[in-house]
Amino acid sequence: MHNIRHITEDIIWVGASDRRIALFENAYPVPDGVSYNSYIIKSSQTALLDACDASVCDQFMENVLAALDGQKLDYIIVNHMEPDHSSTLACMIHHHPEAKIVATAKAFTMMKNFFGFEPGDRAITVKEGDTLEVGTHKLSFMTAPMVHWPEVMVTFDSATGTLFSADAFGTFGAIEGAMFNDDIDFAKWVGEYRRYYTNIVGKYGPSVQTLLKKAANLTIKTICPLHGPVWRSNIPALIEKYDKWSRYEPEDDTILAVYSSMYGHTKNAAEMLASELGKLGAKVAVYDASAVHPSYLVSEAFHCKALALLAVSYNNGVHPSMEIFLNELAAHNFNSRKTVVIENGSWAPSAGRTMKEKLSAMKNMEIVAEATVTSAVNECSRQAIINAAQALAAAVR
Ligand code: FEO
Repeated sequence: MHNIRHITEDIIWVGASDRRIALFENAYPVPDGVSYNSYIIKSSQTALLDACDASVCDQFMENVLAALDGQKLDYIIVNHMEPDHSSTLACMIHHHPEAKIVATAKAFTMMKNFFGFEPGDRAITVKEGDTLEVGTHKLSFMTAPMVHWPEVMVTFDSATGTLFSADAFGTFGAIEGAMFNDDIDFAKWVGEYRRYYTNIVGKYGPSVQTLLKKAANLTIKTICPLHGPVWRSNIPALIEKYDKWSRYEPEDDTILAVYSSMYGHTKNAAEMLASELGKLGAKVAVYDASAVHPSYLVSEAFHCKALALLAVSYNNGVHPSMEIFLNELAAHNFNSRKTVVIENGSWAPSAGRTMKEKLSAMKNMEIVAEATVTSAVNECSRQAIINAAQALAAAVR
C-alpha cells in the first residue's frame, strides 16, 4: 500500500525508508536506517524529482502511482545519478514512456553507463540556469558538481520557494513519522547530519561553498533533500552548519582525543591527558579508535577545534585503528587543526613518526606538542602528557 506525504498542497513526498541496511554505500553504519526521498510535483502538469534505491522499489512505485492518481507523468527530473537514487530509474522510465527525462549531459552519460538507456527524443539536457515550467511551478536548474558526484544539479521552484537539493542538506536515519525538521529535535540529530555530510560530501568543501553562494541568491522556504527530513523552518541554522563544515572550521572549542591502545597503557595516557585538559577547563571528547567506526571519528574531527592522537607502535608503524582513522581524515580533505601526537612503544617507537607522516599529508595541520610513553606511563612521560595538555588547552583558547 502506498505511503505518501504532502510537503505542500501539490508537492508530494513519494520516497521510502530502509531499516534493514547495515552499511550505507557498503561503508558507513546506519543504525537508524536511511530514507530515500523522491518528490512529485502535481499541477496541471507533473514531474517526478529523482527516483529511489532498489531496496524500496515496490513501495516507491506504488507511491508514485498513488501521488499521480491517474494523471500522466510529464517529466522525470534527475538531479543525481548515484544508484541510491537511480537504481529504480530505468524501471520508472520504462513504466512512464510518456515522460520526458530532464538531466545534465553527464547524468545522461551515466544513465547509458549504468543501464544502457538511450533517451533519444525523450531527453531534455539542461545546464546552469535553464528553466522549465511544470504547470504553475517555475523550475530552474543549478549545477552542483561534486556535491556529491560530477553530474549533480539542484532544482529550485521559484513559485513555492522549494529547493530540491539532491544530497545536500540530507542526513542518515529513516523517516520516523516526522517528515519536517520542525518535528524533530535537531540537537539530537545534528550528529547524524554531520556524520552524513563529512563522510559523504566532506571531501568536496569548495564545491559545497560554490553551491551555498548560489543558494544565497534564492528565497528558500523549503529544502527537499534526497535523505532525511524536509526543512521548512530554521533554514539559516542548517546552512550555517554546512558553511562551517565546508570551510573545515570547528563548531566549538571541544578537543577530540582519539587513542589506539593494545593493553590499556595508551588508553591510560589518553585518560590522563583528558583529565589534565579537564582541570584546565577544556572540553574533551575521548574515543577508542578500535571500538568506534571511523565515520564517527571523522565527523567528530570536523566538529572539534583540536586533536590529540595517542597510539601504540605496531609493525614498525602505528596501530591499525589509528592508521585507518588518519587515512580517512586525509581522504576527506580534513585540514587546519592544532594537534598533539603521543606515541607508545616498548623497544623501537614508530607510532609518532607514522602519525606525523600522515598528518603532513593534510593541509595546515600544526603539531603543538609530542610525547613518548615507553610501555607504560611513568613520572617522566606523565610530565610530558601534562605539558601536551597545556599546549593543547592554549591552542583552543
Ligand atoms: Fe544519496 Fe550521492 O547519493
